[in-house]
Amino acid sequence: MQVLHVSTECYPIAKSGGLGDVVGALPKYLNKAGIDSSVILPKYDNKWISKQIWITCFKGVIQLDTDLIAFKIQQLKTPLAFPLYVVDIPGKYDRPGIYLDHNGMGYEDAAQRAICFQRAILQWLITLEKLPKVIHCHDHHTGLIPFMLQHCPEFSVLKKVPSVFTIHNGEYPGSFDWELVNLLPLFDGRVGGLLDWDQQINPLATGIKCCWKLTTVSPGYLEELQIYTKGLSHLLQQEMPKSHGILNGIDTQVWNPATDTYLAHPLKKSARVFKATNKKWLCTHFNVPPTLPLITFIGRLAREKGADFLAPTIEHYLSSGGKAAFIVLGTGDPTLHKILSDLGEKYKGIIAIALEYNEQLAHQLYAGSDFIWMPSRVEPCGLNQLYAMRYGTIPIVRAIGGLKDTVVDISNPNGSGIQFNQLSLADTTQAIQRAVSLYNNKEAFAFIREAIMDLNFSWEKSAEDYFSLYKKIARFQEFDD
Ligand code: GLC
Repeated sequence: MQVLHVSTECYPIAKSGGLGDVVGALPKYLNKAGIDSSVILPKYDNKWISKQIWITCFKGVIQLDTDLIAFKIQQLKTPLAFPLYVVDIPGKYDRPGIYLDHNGMGYEDAAQRAICFQRAILQWLITLEKLPKVIHCHDHHTGLIPFMLQHCPEFSVLKKVPSVFTIHNGEYPGSFDWELVNLLPLFDGRVGGLLDWDQQINPLATGIKCCWKLTTVSPGYLEELQIYTKGLSHLLQQEMPKSHGILNGIDTQVWNPATDTYLAHPLKKSARVFKATNKKWLCTHFNVPPTLPLITFIGRLAREKGADFLAPTIEHYLSSGGKAAFIVLGTGDPTLHKILSDLGEKYKGIIAIALEYNEQLAHQLYAGSDFIWMPSRVEPCGLNQLYAMRYGTIPIVRAIGGLKDTVVDISNPNGSGIQFNQLSLADTTQAIQRAVSLYNNKEAFAFIREAIMDLNFSWEKSAEDYFSLYKKIARFQEFDD
């Protein structure tokens, strides 16, 4: 094992958003490029995990303050495109939800869980004969690892193992009270400041401070984080010398319109026929008119994604005579569920609302829609616009983070979508109007639609960038004697 990816999500094992997609794909492409990469995540109580055969490779006990927590490290018997490990911590992770309970509420013992997960991994690693060359941590749930590697005597064997910390989403710091400090293994009190941000233990800030290399999932997001990161911008500015923005890729094996088993009508020869047959299927399924441009939102119904702008914009656009059909797929804020359902009722036959998480439907929507709409407030990279383009669906995006880096406005010769700047009713509505005008210009619309299907956002390039980064902090085979 050269690189160990530590994450709370990994597709197809457990996914709640883009983090899962990335951790399910990057190691596969690193392995293809000859860099041995494994993934470790918590053992949740879900269908995928319970169907597999697991081999226990380590058993241990964590002294969590006054409690003793038993855990196991298990390896998947038949590896995926990479070796997969889980940390089995009964009582902590044997629950179906990754972050939320059955009422949609965050777990109250989130900090305890995350600490157990991270400590268990390090307790296992110190027993290995061959240590990983790099530990690659993803998001705040793993942000204490770079600190523990360096500053906890219990793990001193790992002191020289370099860590990479990737911020997929800086909106969630995972902070908890200093009262819980005893849950951490012993460390030299003089370095306690590394854990602190605003008088709390802040795993996101700790990861940023202690990792050897910091990455964000797009160059644009790295720039934005220095201006606004929930109070961490100064820290980001300070840590710029070790920071890199590396754009995510997409798994072109999973996201291939020609072989996608979720689609009733995969791509054969003609992009036009592919789009037409899938749109027809969708419009029948959702009872919306196939003659209108079809604009779709897929994602978490959260402020972060600008989901509070969906209903007002649609209402504003339709009530002023606009002609388009809309589909929304996602779950999230219960208030938005209600607002969107009401809107769906009011404009039955033009708007369809699916309040669910549905991977297959998402694929069908990318294939059959004309436009994908992403009015995000924050978008560290965004994968939906990349999936959409590969399936010939033109993105309408707010010009921020990874959206700005991957979608070129159609006012440019190589335009691939529609950008807008402000999250205001005027700007979001104007973006919809521009999309509909494009749709009505049949020739330009068909041209862009076909051109975006050929754009290359595959992981190969990004995997190379990560490899170059790893080589800056660790010695790999080709450099070994
Ligand atoms: C998070 C971000 C998203 C990014 C994904 C994968 O979900 O919100 O923008 O694409 O992580 O890195």
